[in-house]
Amino acid sequence: MVELSPSILSADFANLERDIKALEKENIKYLHVDVMDGHFVPNITIGPVVVSSIRKRTDMILDVHLMIENPDRYIDVFCDAGADILTVHYEATNHIHGVIQSIKKRGVKAGVAINPGTPLNVLEEILPDIDLVLIMSVNPGFGGQEFILNSLEKIAYIKEVNKQLNLDIIIEVDGGIKEHNIIDVVNAGVNLIVAGSAIFNDKTIKDNVDKLKEALNE
Ligand code: DX5
Ligand code: ZN
Repeated sequence: MVELSPSILSADFANLERDIKALEKENIKYLHVDVMDGHFVPNITIGPVVVSSIRKRTDMILDVHLMIENPDRYIDVFCDAGADILTVHYEATNHIHGVIQSIKKRGVKAGVAINPGTPLNVLEEILPDIDLVLIMSVNPGFGGQEFILNSLEKIAYIKEVNKQLNLDIIIEVDGGIKEHNIIDVVNAGVNLIVAGSAIFNDKTIKDNVDKLKEALNE
């Protein structure tokens, strides 16, 4: 089963609740929340206060993507804020194993994100410990960038490892997913697809979600 996880980075921050309700109406189950600190990535977005406000207004699965340095310092606050999935970047900490353990101790699903320039084999030791791998198909920091094609090979590789090691890791992809390439990431093996500008820009949320779902079923 493949699910969409709309990235609120491209939503209207002055009307977040309205946009979230529009997604609920379309039966969307996940909400991707991009947290950026201006250090790990050049952009600055939102923090735990906003996550906890969102938590109060929706039962959607909060898929929180931390693009922050030293994520270990913020695991508890984001768990308290109501994250259901907490994903940290492999590149953002020297202690990825410890960070994953802290997330899991809180009963929250632990994800690890991998930048386009980072090879997947660095995850070998920790794969049995994680619930989700997030393949970045753009360099993190901004919405609306172009999909990086070799991400498809990374998705296929993780799918294969999942099978061989008998694991059940969720494979998520993030960046540059549009109507024209969504089927490619599905064929490569993803379970969870982040889409920001494809859902919140141009037309209505309903029209955009419909278009993506149609492309998924083609
Ligand atoms: C980028 C973020 C993405 C972003 C995706 O650093 O992690 O979640 O919002 O936006 P699109 O779908 O527009 O590439
Ligand atoms: Zn993201």
